[in-house]
Amino acid sequence: MRLFFALWPDDAVRAELARWSRELHALCGGRTTRPENLHVTLAFLGSVEEVRVAEIERTAGEVSPRAVSLVLDQPGYWKRNRIAWAGASTVPPELEAFVEELRGALARSHIGFDAKDFVSHVTLLRDAHEPRGMPALDPISWKVDGFALVRSVTLPRGSRYEIRKSWKG
Ligand code: 2AM
Repeated sequence: MRLFFALWPDDAVRAELARWSRELHALCGGRTTRPENLHVTLAFLGSVEEVRVAEIERTAGEVSPRAVSLVLDQPGYWKRNRIAWAGASTVPPELEAFVEELRGALARSHIGFDAKDFVSHVTLLRDAHEPRGMPALDPISWKVDGFALVRSVTLPRGSRYEIRKSWKG
């Protein structure tokens, strides 16, 4: 199964992200991420055998989730993959430290993951056009108080993400 660790927004943050998504869609087109799928990826594990899931969950359980205040105040666009996203002009050092701790624990347990640097962002649109300029959007205040292990299920109409387990700070 395809797995990844993520920050999962509550309904209020999700609604605000969906609003950003609609505003950006008006400028950039593309395919919007379904609101129930919106998240920040912390570590992407990819395809994992079922027998390893218990060990992955145990390893994640050793990492202490912390309460972090994340302010999403920066819409962005990446030309290379035509993604429009919501990001933070300042990523809290506690969040960077947490991701390092999580990835370190995974590495020590020989659990593979995509080693690309963590870039705190929520993918809002795929196959989007580059906008002439980014709109000013109301900042989104996200009180992060945990993280989740998520399964990505591929369906004919796109991916569906299912939380397998979550840990609270
Ligand atoms: P994203 O974080 O830019 O949206 C599930 O596929 C999630 O894991 C998506 O949110 C995706 O991109 C992220 N992800 C990170 N690395 C990935 C990789 N190597 N392959 C697929 N998805 C990846």
